[in-house]
Amino acid sequence: MNTKLLNSALSDVETELLAVFASDGATGKDAKPELRLLTPDDAPLKAAQAVLDGGEFRAEANETLLLHAPAGLKAKRLLLVGLGKAAKATIHDVRKASGTAVRFAKPRGIREIAVAAPAAESMEPKLAVRALVEGALVADFDPDTYRSDRKDRSVQALQVVTGAAVDRAAVEIGLREGVIVGEAQNFARSLVNEPGNRLTPTILGQRAAEMCREYGLTCEVHSTGKLHELQMGAFWSVAQGSDEPPALIVMRYEPKGVTDGPVLGLVGKGITFDTGGISIKPADNMEKMKYDMAGGAAMIGTMRAIAQLQPKVRVIGIVCAAENMPSGKAQKPGDVQIAMAAGPDRAGKSIEIINTDAEGRLVLADGLTYAKQLGATHLIDAATLTGAVSVALGTINAGVFSNDDATYAEFAEALKISGERFWRLPVEDDYRELIRSQIADIKNTGGRYGGAITAAMFLKEFAEDTPWVHLDIAGMAWQDEAKPWVAAGPSGVAMRSILEWVRRYEG
Ligand code: BES
Ligand code: MN
Ligand code: ZN
Repeated sequence: MNTKLLNSALSDVETELLAVFASDGATGKDAKPELRLLTPDDAPLKAAQAVLDGGEFRAEANETLLLHAPAGLKAKRLLLVGLGKAAKATIHDVRKASGTAVRFAKPRGIREIAVAAPAAESMEPKLAVRALVEGALVADFDPDTYRSDRKDRSVQALQVVTGAAVDRAAVEIGLREGVIVGEAQNFARSLVNEPGNRLTPTILGQRAAEMCREYGLTCEVHSTGKLHELQMGAFWSVAQGSDEPPALIVMRYEPKGVTDGPVLGLVGKGITFDTGGISIKPADNMEKMKYDMAGGAAMIGTMRAIAQLQPKVRVIGIVCAAENMPSGKAQKPGDVQIAMAAGPDRAGKSIEIINTDAEGRLVLADGLTYAKQLGATHLIDAATLTGAVSVALGTINAGVFSNDDATYAEFAEALKISGERFWRLPVEDDYRELIRSQIADIKNTGGRYGGAITAAMFLKEFAEDTPWVHLDIAGMAWQDEAKPWVAAGPSGVAMRSILEWVRRYEG
């Protein structure tokens, strides 16, 4: 999608479709709607006055109303998109509403649109334009990649129309950031969308390496030999059951002149297909387990955006990619594995495997230890780790866990920009006994209750004293139903929040 800013009176905008945001200023619960348009000038309001008075449009969130040949406008069509109640409308509603405009245009063969930047006191213009552009790009993505009759219905051009009063430099930055972030999120989604046969660990490694080459990051993709050399017994225990070799993907962003300060370690679960292994999953819905690399994809997408935005902080991205398969070489329940050691004078922790389907925490254990060995001072991981997190939080919030309140606070700040929804769950030491093993240091599952928490407790053993944030995105990485602003399928969740978390450590 080609995006540009246009500083123009709305009446003069020549376009197939001009979208404007509307809100309801009424405050009482059953009060009659008081419709407002959040536009830099009043031309659209004049064109839409009769229909607004008619009462058929209430500006509810993502409600749309189309007018053809709007009076006094050069635009061929005027689309009103609701943001809901004016007092509550935020840039996160703008992100969705601009997506709704794009997904309105797509099936109608409209390939060029203009959107009026929302003029509202409560919204900072730079962030509003950024959210608008992100929403438009994310909405343009459709996951029907392998349909032989696939029609390209992309919206190819987006003009963001601002008023003369706005700080041009600021909104230019907003536009540029919106493009970078939206494209990075779609890149992550395109990886998540790929089926297991077309995105093996090796291929995921190639995709990451290509991205790094294109955007100027250093990248190494290791496999079996390196896992053995580093004695990554936890990661290898998952990989050993598959004919597909694992990939240990290491991406580095090292801004010039930054030689001290934090080093952020981003660690992603990259299970390209999760059968469960010997503890095999039931057939129903197993096809979904191609998205078990969504945490890894979020990290690759984040590194792409970092390479373009160039924050002044060092970042290492690690993806532990493997296929979890049952075979004659697969690990078995009861096996004991030795994880990578946290230092030359340390023994690797021993792990009793109770369930081979709890494989994500195994690959991440070694990924976290390796990130620390490479110098990470702060860790964040993202993983489709547990079904239990969706039992706890549904599909509205993802889970976030942390061993450090200050580091969590930075993540909470990041959420204000990203608009993504995460809910903090505990990792208190009292839960530790649930993963105690008779035979080894720990076991890889914690029984029936608190499954998302015991998985996080397992990871905490490997983060140790390093400040760490863990994101369990199992319930959010794949959207079963389409929304007006986004297609069903891979969501790209977590990438935007991790990016903003990283930017908060800029020196
Ligand atoms: N990849 C799954 C978790 C998952 C479930 C992701 C549903 C997305 C949707 C993970 O590897 C897994 O199998 N977890 C088990 C853990 C259990 C064996 C302790 C689970 O959640 O059932
Ligand atoms: Mn599993
Ligand atoms: Zn898994």
